[in-house]
Amino acid sequence: MSHFFRRIVARKPIDSVQKEINEAEYKRPLTAWDLTLMGIGGIIGAGIFVLTGKAAAKNAGPGIIISFVISGIVCVFACLCYAELGSTLPVSGSAYSFTYAALGELLAWIVGWDLMLEYLVGAATVAVGWSGYLDIFVSGLVGKNHIFDPRWSNAPFVWIEGTPNVTDGFYLNKVKCLDGSSCQAVFNIPAFVIVVAITILLVLGIREAAWVNNTMVIIKLLVTVMFILTGIKFINNANYTPFVPPNEGKGQYGLSGIFEASVSVFFAYIGFDAVTTTAQEAANPQRDLPIGIIGSLGICTILYIAVSSVLVGMVPYRSIDLKAPVGQALIDVGLPAMAVIISFGALVGLTSVMITMMIGQPRIFYSMAYDGLLPPVFSRIHPKFGTPYITTIFSGTLCALLAGLLPVDLLGNLTSVGTLSAFFLVSVSTLVLRVTQPDLPRKFQIPGGFWFGGIFVPFLSAFFSAGLFSQATVASIARVFIWMAIGLVIYFAYGFWHSKIGQAIANGGAPVERSEKSEKHIAVLG
Ligand code: ALA
Repeated sequence: MSHFFRRIVARKPIDSVQKEINEAEYKRPLTAWDLTLMGIGGIIGAGIFVLTGKAAAKNAGPGIIISFVISGIVCVFACLCYAELGSTLPVSGSAYSFTYAALGELLAWIVGWDLMLEYLVGAATVAVGWSGYLDIFVSGLVGKNHIFDPRWSNAPFVWIEGTPNVTDGFYLNKVKCLDGSSCQAVFNIPAFVIVVAITILLVLGIREAAWVNNTMVIIKLLVTVMFILTGIKFINNANYTPFVPPNEGKGQYGLSGIFEASVSVFFAYIGFDAVTTTAQEAANPQRDLPIGIIGSLGICTILYIAVSSVLVGMVPYRSIDLKAPVGQALIDVGLPAMAVIISFGALVGLTSVMITMMIGQPRIFYSMAYDGLLPPVFSRIHPKFGTPYITTIFSGTLCALLAGLLPVDLLGNLTSVGTLSAFFLVSVSTLVLRVTQPDLPRKFQIPGGFWFGGIFVPFLSAFFSAGLFSQATVASIARVFIWMAIGLVIYFAYGFWHSKIGQAIANGGAPVERSEKSEKHIAVLG
């Protein structure tokens, strides 16, 4: 095998990763309850509070309920794979590290690169949703319809696709100004500001204490349940007919609309994978990690189906608001005070998702820099604050600009499609590790023995992830491939040459001399 090929397929040794984990001491053992709340903290956010609106109004109509079921099924399978790998290799790089151990460096790089879409673009998506709810919340408090100047609380562009007689592409975003005239949106300042604020907090090392996270999660659970219980009284059964509106073009209602909406609302489920990064802090990962992942996903699936059923029952699907559908639905039925309460809960909930994602992104960069695939500056820790400040500022700046400039549906779809490709490779990694390393100690194993739990479930998970990926619009898929192509250029320009494992291979298998403590783990598999 040529050096080149050996380097791009080189896998990270598992035993050394496990040894490092076993040697580490962790103080605050997390219970199943903590893990479940943490999962919910990362899950409920812009997906349900924002993206459901457009997916129901433009793609699926009341059939959005089926879309939620479809993406929920995809996630259940993926979450079993995450639970198995997370308990086997509880490392901070999450899917990136799993793939490095199972499928080798090049695919791991691609997953790490895709995770930027999940965390960085995902946080930008949530920030745009946050901006919409802030408007409803503040205007509700002062008794107005809108308080923010729409020019400065919207993206300057919209992406239009699949509309008859309109060429797909970016168009300038004309919004209705406060005085009723039409004007050009310039920048989404609230979305930009919230990302900058969280970035500053994270650089300073303001850690989310467990009780803060639990409080935020409980608030968002309460408002979600409150919306369901209040909204249910305003359901008009006529709004459910037709349940699947007749197709009006690709992705516009009908079956293709349901599938396209599934890709959008898949965003709502993203976040359960964050639980895997805390696997090493769980008191009993074998039992509690699957409970945390599956429990949080199960609770959110039920809530999502309930919220979407109530929403499309309350408002005729074509009239559902695109920016803050849940809050606006309450205003539409004459409950502005309730809308303010729900908007407050949504703001809190969206903030907790952003914090989770913006903590996650630097961790991935850190792992990649640690392995030599990114410059060492990406793993630099601030001497005073003890935080990965360079990566936090770098990802925060990018995220803030995306949040200010791009519309929520485009960002959300990019996140969903990028995450689906990571799910696909995590599923394949689960399968490959079961075959290549059957005796690896697995604290949690997908039940059902080798053929069912080890092969069939990961295979179905990969199949479903790829299936949902294929339902995305051509433009969304193209964007992800362009993103991956940029990633490959960067990998071959830098990562390939600086990878620690790659250098070890170039040195004839000997570990390269380095100062980092990771050095003792460098070895080459296969
Ligand atoms: N699932 C998270 C949300 O909907 C990312 O905001």
